[in-house]
Amino acid sequence: MGLVLGIETSCDETAAAVVDERFHVHSSVIESSIEDHKAFGGVVPELAGRAHVQHIGSVVTRALTIAGLDPLDPAIDGIAVTSGPGLIGSLLVGLSSAKAYALAWNKPFVGVNHLEGHLFAPLLDADSFTWPILTLLVSGGHSMIVLQRGPGDHEVLGETIDDAAGEAYDKVARWLGLGYPGGPAIDKLAQEGDARALKLPVSMTGDDYDLSFSGLKTAVVRATEKQRDVAVADVAASFQRAVAEQLLRKLRHALARHEVAGIALGGGVAANSALRAGMTELGAEFGVEVHLPTMAMCTDNAAMIAAAGVHRLSVDGASALTLSANPNWQLSEVS
Ligand code: KG4
Ligand code: ZN
Repeated sequence: MGLVLGIETSCDETAAAVVDERFHVHSSVIESSIEDHKAFGGVVPELAGRAHVQHIGSVVTRALTIAGLDPLDPAIDGIAVTSGPGLIGSLLVGLSSAKAYALAWNKPFVGVNHLEGHLFAPLLDADSFTWPILTLLVSGGHSMIVLQRGPGDHEVLGETIDDAAGEAYDKVARWLGLGYPGGPAIDKLAQEGDARALKLPVSMTGDDYDLSFSGLKTAVVRATEKQRDVAVADVAASFQRAVAEQLLRKLRHALARHEVAGIALGGGVAANSALRAGMTELGAEFGVEVHLPTMAMCTDNAAMIAAAGVHRLSVDGASALTLSANPNWQLSEVS
């Protein structure tokens, strides 16, 4: 396996990338339609699908060209594409394109699970990696703690029983009038706020690995209704602290029970400053390696899909051209 072209269109990012078998990134192009969705306070599936159709051709051509390949006949060894989970209309654009390229160039193609892609993000351009690893996978759609015994060998220890961490960020940001997406806005504002200004409950203090963010969101709404003069920055800082505390507490709990060489972060919320700082501290405390994806590789991108594809193509082989998109594909169904 030499070079793999990755294609990602599960949500609002149209992305293509070229990655080699050692997970070095040769190119990574991302075209986001986020501006089209801002007025609606969230991703509008029809608009996202249309934007993917508009951008996919040029994004793939750019990714191949930047990697020094001929965009009409690239010397690649395979094509990896997100085939789930995600928005069905969006997934289908990437999947149909990948099939068309695979036929035109006579290359194998493989459908990749988007969440498995996020698990590969910290491996991109990494010098070395020692397993096993405990990973916090936190995005707009998912929040879970995953034990990774090796690349592609993962066990979901626990996940959110209601909202995802990123979803809670987006909902609280909407409540505070900070626009969409909420994560980056709250994170920025939290830098200027007092994290102890609001008394918020730390949810899910039990012995398991389950997570929950819905109650925290409600607690923010209640507290700000009661305390109308509280500064928005203080609310942001208090909420951010409560989210990081819950996630890190559960990871600490997992670290105490599983002997691992490292901890990692993946998913859009991996860009969060409080979480990144907390992970670094936790790693130092337990004497394990800390793997944080670069900021560019936290949010949806195709390099992580290509990396997962390198692995899947070599372990499972190519997918059939009849493969369909699976909008609800669970990570626990991938082995
Ligand atoms: O992984 P991703 O790009 O899309 C999904 O697969 O869901 O994650 C997007 C999520 C959004 O909810 C966004 O608000 C959140 O990641 N996010 C953040 C930050 N940057 C993005 N959440 C907290 N802090 C951030 N700095
Ligand atoms: Zn994602």
